[in-house]
Amino acid sequence: VDPPLVDPQGRTIRYLRISVTDRCDLRCRYCMAEQMTFLPRAKLLSLDEIAIIAERFIARGVTKIRLSGGEPLVRRDVGDLMRRLGRHVGAGLDELTMTTNATRLGQHAQGMVDAGIRRINVSLDSLDADRFRYITRHGDLDQVLGGIAAAKAAGLAVKINMVALAGLNEAEIPAMLQWCIDEGHDLSLIETMPLGAIDEDRTDRFVPLTRVFEDLKARFPLTRDAHRTGGPARYWRVEGTTTRLGLISPLTANFCDGCNRVRLTTEGKLYLCLGHEDQVDLKGALRDGGIAGLDDAIDRGLLRKPARHDFKIEAGSAPAVSRHMSVTGG
Ligand code: GTP
Ligand code: 5AD
Ligand code: SF4
Repeated sequence: VDPPLVDPQGRTIRYLRISVTDRCDLRCRYCMAEQMTFLPRAKLLSLDEIAIIAERFIARGVTKIRLSGGEPLVRRDVGDLMRRLGRHVGAGLDELTMTTNATRLGQHAQGMVDAGIRRINVSLDSLDADRFRYITRHGDLDQVLGGIAAAKAAGLAVKINMVALAGLNEAEIPAMLQWCIDEGHDLSLIETMPLGAIDEDRTDRFVPLTRVFEDLKARFPLTRDAHRTGGPARYWRVEGTTTRLGLISPLTANFCDGCNRVRLTTEGKLYLCLGHEDQVDLKGALRDGGIAGLDDAIDRGLLRKPARHDFKIEAGSAPAVSRHMSVTGG
Protein backbone atom coordinates (compact mmCIF):
# COMPACT_ATOMS: atom_id res chain seq x y z
CA VAL A 1 0.00 0.00 0.00
CA ASP A 2 1.25 3.50 -0.83
CA PRO A 3 2.82 5.29 2.15
CA PRO A 4 0.70 8.19 3.45
CA LEU A 5 2.06 11.72 3.52
CA VAL A 6 3.05 12.63 7.07
CA ASP A 7 5.37 15.53 7.88
CA PRO A 8 7.89 15.83 10.75
CA GLN A 9 5.20 17.56 12.89
CA GLY A 10 2.97 14.52 12.47
CA ARG A 11 0.55 16.37 10.20
CA THR A 12 -1.04 14.25 7.48
CA ILE A 13 -1.35 15.85 4.05
CA ARG A 14 -4.78 15.31 2.51
CA TYR A 15 -5.26 18.55 0.55
CA LEU A 16 -3.43 19.43 -2.67
CA ARG A 17 -3.81 22.91 -4.12
CA ILE A 18 -2.82 23.17 -7.77
CA SER A 19 -2.08 26.48 -9.43
CA VAL A 20 -2.89 25.64 -13.06
CA THR A 21 -1.71 29.03 -14.29
CA ASP A 22 -0.08 32.05 -12.66
CA ARG A 23 -1.87 34.33 -15.15
CA CYS A 24 -5.02 36.25 -14.40
CA ASP A 25 -7.37 38.52 -16.27
CA LEU A 26 -7.63 40.77 -13.19
CA ARG A 27 -4.98 42.55 -11.14
CA CYS A 28 -6.38 42.76 -7.61
CA ARG A 29 -4.33 45.36 -5.77
CA TYR A 30 -3.56 43.23 -2.70
CA CYS A 31 -2.55 40.29 -4.91
CA MET A 32 -0.65 41.60 -7.91
CA ALA A 33 1.23 44.61 -9.20
CA GLU A 34 -0.19 46.33 -12.26
CA GLN A 35 2.75 45.12 -14.36
CA MET A 36 3.42 41.44 -13.83
CA THR A 37 5.91 39.06 -15.40
CA PHE A 38 4.37 35.64 -15.86
CA LEU A 39 6.08 32.30 -16.27
CA PRO A 40 7.04 31.46 -19.86
CA ARG A 41 4.56 28.97 -21.30
CA ALA A 42 7.35 26.58 -22.29
CA LYS A 43 8.13 25.95 -18.61
CA LEU A 44 4.62 24.91 -17.66
CA LEU A 45 3.50 21.40 -16.81
CA SER A 46 1.40 19.76 -19.47
CA LEU A 47 -2.10 18.73 -18.57
CA ASP A 48 -0.95 15.12 -18.52
CA GLU A 49 1.89 15.91 -16.12
CA ILE A 50 -0.44 17.76 -13.76
CA ALA A 51 -2.79 14.79 -13.79
CA ILE A 52 -0.03 12.25 -13.21
CA ILE A 53 1.29 14.21 -10.24
CA ALA A 54 -2.20 14.75 -8.83
CA GLU A 55 -2.99 11.05 -9.22
CA ARG A 56 0.17 10.16 -7.34
CA PHE A 57 -0.98 12.39 -4.48
CA ILE A 58 -4.39 10.72 -4.52
CA ALA A 59 -2.72 7.32 -4.31
CA ARG A 60 -0.83 8.59 -1.29
CA GLY A 61 -3.87 9.76 0.63
CA VAL A 62 -4.85 13.17 -0.71
CA THR A 63 -8.66 13.37 -0.62
CA LYS A 64 -9.20 16.98 -1.68
CA ILE A 65 -7.85 18.84 -4.69
CA ARG A 66 -8.43 22.51 -5.40
CA LEU A 67 -7.64 24.04 -8.79
CA SER A 68 -6.50 27.58 -8.36
CA GLY A 69 -4.23 30.15 -9.97
CA GLY A 70 -3.89 32.91 -11.08
CA GLU A 71 -7.29 32.47 -12.57
CA PRO A 72 -7.70 28.76 -13.35
CA LEU A 73 -10.34 29.32 -16.02
CA VAL A 74 -7.93 31.30 -18.24
CA ARG A 75 -5.93 28.10 -18.86
CA ARG A 76 -7.21 26.74 -22.14
CA ASP A 77 -7.22 23.01 -21.28
CA VAL A 78 -8.64 23.41 -17.77
CA GLY A 79 -11.89 21.73 -18.81
CA ASP A 80 -10.00 18.58 -19.80
CA LEU A 81 -8.11 18.66 -16.51
CA MET A 82 -11.34 18.98 -14.53
CA ARG A 83 -12.80 16.01 -16.38
CA ARG A 84 -9.71 13.89 -15.88
CA LEU A 85 -9.39 14.61 -12.16
CA GLY A 86 -13.17 14.41 -11.75
CA ARG A 87 -12.97 10.66 -12.48
CA HIS A 88 -11.40 10.26 -9.03
CA VAL A 89 -14.26 11.93 -7.16
CA GLY A 90 -15.83 9.21 -5.02
CA ALA A 91 -12.89 6.94 -5.85
CA GLY A 92 -10.06 8.35 -3.76
CA LEU A 93 -11.04 12.00 -3.89
CA ASP A 94 -13.78 13.31 -1.61
CA GLU A 95 -13.73 16.65 -3.32
CA LEU A 96 -12.50 18.34 -6.48
CA THR A 97 -13.02 22.07 -6.31
CA MET A 98 -11.83 25.43 -7.60
CA THR A 99 -11.13 28.99 -6.52
CA THR A 100 -12.00 31.44 -9.30
CA ASN A 101 -12.65 35.13 -9.90
CA ALA A 102 -15.85 34.17 -11.79
CA THR A 103 -15.18 36.27 -14.91
CA ARG A 104 -15.50 33.13 -17.04
CA LEU A 105 -17.90 31.11 -14.93
CA GLY A 106 -20.75 31.75 -17.35
CA GLN A 107 -19.02 29.52 -19.95
CA HIS A 108 -17.69 26.95 -17.49
CA ALA A 109 -20.24 26.37 -14.73
CA GLN A 110 -22.10 23.50 -16.37
CA GLY A 111 -18.85 21.79 -17.42
CA MET A 112 -17.65 21.97 -13.85
CA VAL A 113 -20.77 20.26 -12.56
CA ASP A 114 -20.48 17.61 -15.29
CA ALA A 115 -16.86 17.00 -14.24
CA GLY A 116 -17.89 16.31 -10.63
CA ILE A 117 -17.29 19.68 -8.98
CA ARG A 118 -19.97 20.41 -6.38
CA ARG A 119 -18.85 23.64 -4.78
CA ILE A 120 -16.53 26.52 -5.64
CA ASN A 121 -15.00 29.55 -3.95
CA VAL A 122 -15.32 32.88 -5.74
CA SER A 123 -13.19 35.95 -5.01
CA LEU A 124 -15.49 38.96 -4.69
CA ASP A 125 -14.21 41.91 -2.70
CA SER A 126 -16.97 44.45 -3.33
CA LEU A 127 -20.56 44.73 -4.52
CA ASP A 128 -20.07 48.33 -5.60
CA ALA A 129 -19.19 48.46 -9.29
CA ASP A 130 -16.74 51.36 -9.03
CA ARG A 131 -15.00 49.96 -5.98
CA PHE A 132 -14.86 46.52 -7.57
CA ARG A 133 -13.22 48.02 -10.63
CA TYR A 134 -10.76 49.92 -8.44
CA ILE A 135 -9.72 46.89 -6.36
CA THR A 136 -9.41 44.52 -9.34
CA ARG A 137 -8.11 47.24 -11.71
CA HIS A 138 -9.91 45.54 -14.66
CA GLY A 139 -12.94 43.77 -13.26
CA ASP A 140 -16.52 44.26 -14.41
CA LEU A 141 -18.87 43.59 -11.49
CA ASP A 142 -21.85 42.65 -13.67
CA GLN A 143 -19.81 40.05 -15.50
CA VAL A 144 -18.69 38.51 -12.20
CA LEU A 145 -22.19 38.56 -10.71
CA GLY A 146 -23.42 36.93 -13.91
CA GLY A 147 -20.78 34.21 -13.50
CA ILE A 148 -21.85 33.60 -9.91
CA ALA A 149 -25.50 33.42 -10.97
CA ALA A 150 -24.59 30.87 -13.65
CA ALA A 151 -22.79 28.77 -11.05
CA LYS A 152 -25.80 28.86 -8.78
CA ALA A 153 -28.15 27.99 -11.65
CA ALA A 154 -25.94 25.01 -12.53
CA GLY A 155 -26.26 23.74 -8.96
CA LEU A 156 -22.81 24.66 -7.65
CA ALA A 157 -22.59 25.71 -4.02
CA VAL A 158 -20.72 29.03 -3.84
CA LYS A 159 -18.56 30.45 -1.09
CA ILE A 160 -17.54 34.07 -1.52
CA ASN A 161 -13.96 34.97 -0.58
CA MET A 162 -13.52 38.58 0.51
CA VAL A 163 -10.15 39.99 1.51
CA ALA A 164 -10.81 42.67 4.15
CA LEU A 165 -9.18 45.97 3.14
CA ALA A 166 -9.14 49.06 5.35
CA GLY A 167 -10.57 52.15 3.68
CA LEU A 168 -11.66 50.08 0.68
CA ASN A 169 -14.23 47.43 1.51
CA GLU A 170 -14.17 47.15 5.30
CA ALA A 171 -17.35 49.18 5.76
CA GLU A 172 -19.06 46.98 3.19
CA ILE A 173 -18.55 43.71 5.05
CA PRO A 174 -21.98 43.61 6.78
CA ALA A 175 -23.68 44.32 3.44
CA MET A 176 -21.67 41.54 1.81
CA LEU A 177 -22.76 39.11 4.51
CA GLN A 178 -26.39 40.16 4.03
CA TRP A 179 -26.07 39.68 0.27
CA CYS A 180 -24.62 36.19 0.82
CA ILE A 181 -27.54 35.38 3.14
CA ASP A 182 -30.02 36.59 0.53
CA GLU A 183 -28.30 34.60 -2.23
CA GLY A 184 -27.69 31.46 -0.18
CA HIS A 185 -23.89 31.66 -0.39
CA ASP A 186 -21.29 31.16 2.34
CA LEU A 187 -18.81 33.96 3.01
CA SER A 188 -15.14 33.69 4.01
CA LEU A 189 -13.33 36.81 5.16
CA ILE A 190 -9.58 36.81 4.69
CA GLU A 191 -6.72 38.80 6.20
CA THR A 192 -4.38 40.20 3.57
CA MET A 193 -1.09 38.27 3.48
CA PRO A 194 2.37 39.60 2.61
CA LEU A 195 3.13 37.63 -0.56
CA GLY A 196 4.88 39.25 -3.49
CA ALA A 197 5.55 42.89 -4.28
CA ILE A 198 2.51 45.01 -5.06
CA ASP A 199 2.28 48.72 -5.85
CA GLU A 200 1.21 49.74 -2.33
CA ASP A 201 2.02 48.97 1.30
CA ARG A 202 -0.22 46.18 2.58
CA THR A 203 0.06 47.56 6.12
CA ASP A 204 -2.19 50.48 5.18
CA ARG A 205 -4.94 48.10 4.16
CA PHE A 206 -4.58 45.41 6.80
CA VAL A 207 -7.73 44.69 8.81
CA PRO A 208 -7.52 42.29 11.77
CA LEU A 209 -10.59 40.06 11.52
CA THR A 210 -10.96 40.22 15.31
CA ARG A 211 -12.22 43.79 14.77
CA VAL A 212 -14.57 42.79 11.95
CA PHE A 213 -15.98 39.90 13.93
CA GLU A 214 -16.97 42.08 16.90
CA ASP A 215 -18.93 44.31 14.54
CA LEU A 216 -20.62 41.39 12.76
CA LYS A 217 -21.58 39.73 16.04
CA ALA A 218 -23.44 42.89 17.04
CA ARG A 219 -25.43 42.80 13.79
CA PHE A 220 -26.05 39.12 13.03
CA PRO A 221 -26.93 36.10 15.22
CA LEU A 222 -23.68 34.16 14.90
CA THR A 223 -23.01 30.85 16.60
CA ARG A 224 -19.82 28.82 16.37
CA ASP A 225 -20.07 25.96 13.92
CA ALA A 226 -17.85 22.89 14.04
CA HIS A 227 -18.06 22.63 10.21
CA ARG A 228 -14.67 21.87 8.65
CA THR A 229 -13.73 21.79 4.98
CA GLY A 230 -10.10 20.85 5.39
CA GLY A 231 -9.26 24.50 4.63
CA PRO A 232 -7.99 27.09 7.13
CA ALA A 233 -11.27 28.87 7.98
CA ARG A 234 -13.09 28.73 11.31
CA TYR A 235 -16.84 28.92 10.83
CA TRP A 236 -19.87 30.57 12.38
CA ARG A 237 -23.46 29.89 11.42
CA VAL A 238 -25.79 32.81 10.79
CA GLU A 239 -28.83 31.57 12.72
CA GLY A 240 -32.05 31.29 10.74
CA THR A 241 -30.16 31.16 7.41
CA THR A 242 -28.18 28.57 5.44
CA THR A 243 -25.12 30.86 5.37
CA ARG A 244 -21.88 30.12 7.14
CA LEU A 245 -19.36 32.82 7.90
CA GLY A 246 -15.72 31.72 7.72
CA LEU A 247 -12.76 33.62 9.11
CA ILE A 248 -9.27 33.09 7.68
CA SER A 249 -6.97 34.91 10.08
CA PRO A 250 -3.35 33.93 9.45
CA LEU A 251 -2.12 37.10 11.19
CA THR A 252 -4.39 37.20 14.24
CA ALA A 253 -5.18 33.48 14.82
CA ASN A 254 -2.54 31.15 13.46
CA PHE A 255 -3.88 27.85 12.09
CA CYS A 256 -0.64 26.17 11.03
CA ASP A 257 -0.90 23.42 13.68
CA GLY A 258 -3.71 21.90 11.67
CA CYS A 259 -2.05 22.31 8.28
CA ASN A 260 -2.96 19.45 5.94
CA ARG A 261 -1.91 20.91 2.60
CA VAL A 262 0.83 21.38 0.03
CA ARG A 263 0.88 23.30 -3.24
CA LEU A 264 1.83 22.44 -6.80
CA THR A 265 2.78 25.29 -9.10
CA THR A 266 2.16 25.43 -12.81
CA GLU A 267 5.94 24.97 -13.27
CA GLY A 268 5.84 21.70 -11.36
CA LYS A 269 7.31 22.87 -8.08
CA LEU A 270 5.91 21.58 -4.83
CA TYR A 271 5.77 24.28 -2.16
CA LEU A 272 5.54 22.96 1.37
CA CYS A 273 4.19 26.16 2.92
CA LEU A 274 2.51 29.29 1.60
CA GLY A 275 4.85 31.44 3.67
CA HIS A 276 8.24 29.89 2.83
CA GLU A 277 10.48 29.57 -0.20
CA ASP A 278 11.12 25.87 0.38
CA GLN A 279 10.17 23.79 -2.65
CA VAL A 280 11.08 20.67 -4.60
CA ASP A 281 11.04 20.26 -8.36
CA LEU A 282 8.47 17.57 -9.14
CA LYS A 283 8.54 18.22 -12.87
CA GLY A 284 12.24 17.40 -13.09
CA ALA A 285 11.85 14.41 -10.77
CA LEU A 286 9.03 12.98 -12.90
CA ARG A 287 10.81 13.62 -16.20
CA ASP A 288 14.08 12.05 -14.97
CA GLY A 289 12.87 9.35 -12.63
CA GLY A 290 9.27 8.50 -13.45
CA ILE A 291 6.85 7.65 -10.66
CA ALA A 292 9.63 6.40 -8.36
CA GLY A 293 11.50 9.66 -8.83
CA LEU A 294 8.32 11.59 -8.19
CA ASP A 295 7.61 9.72 -4.95
CA ASP A 296 11.14 10.27 -3.80
CA ALA A 297 10.94 14.02 -4.43
CA ILE A 298 7.58 14.26 -2.64
CA ASP A 299 9.07 12.48 0.39
CA ARG A 300 12.12 14.75 0.41
CA GLY A 301 9.89 17.77 0.30
CA LEU A 302 7.61 16.59 3.05
CA LEU A 303 10.57 16.18 5.40
CA ARG A 304 11.21 19.89 5.00
CA LYS A 305 7.66 21.15 5.55
CA PRO A 306 7.98 24.17 7.87
CA ALA A 307 6.04 24.18 11.14
CA ARG A 308 4.37 27.49 10.35
CA HIS A 309 4.55 30.72 8.38
CA ASP A 310 5.90 33.83 10.03
CA PHE A 311 3.87 36.49 8.27
CA LYS A 312 4.13 39.99 9.66
CA ILE A 313 2.27 43.07 8.57
CA GLU A 314 4.41 46.00 9.66
CA ALA A 315 4.85 49.35 8.00
CA GLY A 316 7.61 49.23 5.41
CA SER A 317 8.34 45.52 5.92
CA ALA A 318 9.16 43.46 2.84
CA PRO A 319 6.79 40.64 1.83
CA ALA A 320 7.49 37.35 3.67
CA VAL A 321 8.19 35.75 0.31
CA SER A 322 8.77 37.37 -3.05
CA ARG A 323 6.43 35.18 -5.06
CA HIS A 324 2.82 36.21 -5.44
CA MET A 325 -0.16 34.20 -4.22
CA SER A 326 -0.95 33.41 -7.84
CA VAL A 327 2.19 31.27 -8.24
CA THR A 328 1.19 28.80 -5.52
CA GLY A 329 -2.58 29.15 -5.79
CA GLY A 330 -3.15 30.65 -2.36
P1 GTP B 1 -12.31 25.62 1.56
O1 GTP B 1 -12.09 24.30 0.93
O2 GTP B 1 -13.64 26.20 1.18
O3 GTP B 1 -12.05 25.64 3.01
O4 GTP B 1 -11.29 26.63 0.85
P2 GTP B 1 -9.83 27.13 1.22
O5 GTP B 1 -9.92 28.20 2.22
O6 GTP B 1 -8.96 25.98 1.51
O7 GTP B 1 -9.37 27.74 -0.21
P3 GTP B 1 -9.42 29.16 -0.90
O8 GTP B 1 -8.73 29.00 -2.20
O9 GTP B 1 -10.81 29.70 -0.94
O10 GTP B 1 -8.53 30.07 0.02
C1 GTP B 1 -9.03 31.06 0.87
C2 GTP B 1 -7.87 31.82 1.47
O11 GTP B 1 -7.21 30.97 2.39
C3 GTP B 1 -6.83 32.27 0.45
O12 GTP B 1 -6.42 33.58 0.77
C4 GTP B 1 -5.71 31.30 0.69
O13 GTP B 1 -4.47 31.86 0.37
C5 GTP B 1 -5.83 31.06 2.18
N1 GTP B 1 -5.18 29.81 2.57
C6 GTP B 1 -5.47 28.56 2.17
N2 GTP B 1 -4.62 27.69 2.73
C7 GTP B 1 -3.78 28.41 3.50
C8 GTP B 1 -2.66 28.10 4.29
O14 GTP B 1 -2.25 26.95 4.43
N3 GTP B 1 -2.02 29.13 4.93
C9 GTP B 1 -2.43 30.41 4.80
N4 GTP B 1 -1.75 31.33 5.47
N5 GTP B 1 -3.47 30.75 4.04
C10 GTP B 1 -4.13 29.77 3.40
N1 5AD C 1 -3.58 37.90 0.87
C1 5AD C 1 -4.76 37.27 1.13
N2 5AD C 1 -5.54 36.73 0.19
C2 5AD C 1 -5.12 36.83 -1.07
N3 5AD C 1 -5.67 36.38 -2.21
C3 5AD C 1 -4.85 36.71 -3.22
N4 5AD C 1 -3.77 37.36 -2.78
C4 5AD C 1 -3.91 37.46 -1.43
C5 5AD C 1 -3.14 38.02 -0.38
N5 5AD C 1 -1.97 38.61 -0.64
C6 5AD C 1 -6.95 35.63 -2.22
C7 5AD C 1 -7.83 35.86 -3.41
C8 5AD C 1 -8.52 34.52 -3.59
C9 5AD C 1 -7.71 33.54 -2.78
C10 5AD C 1 -7.19 32.37 -3.51
O1 5AD C 1 -6.64 34.26 -2.24
O2 5AD C 1 -8.77 36.85 -3.20
O3 5AD C 1 -9.84 34.53 -3.12
FE1 SF4 D 1 -6.46 37.39 -10.10
FE2 SF4 D 1 -7.28 36.22 -7.87
FE3 SF4 D 1 -5.08 37.63 -7.79
FE4 SF4 D 1 -7.42 38.89 -8.14
S1 SF4 D 1 -6.77 37.69 -6.31
S2 SF4 D 1 -5.53 39.23 -9.33
S3 SF4 D 1 -8.58 37.44 -9.29
S4 SF4 D 1 -5.36 35.76 -8.92
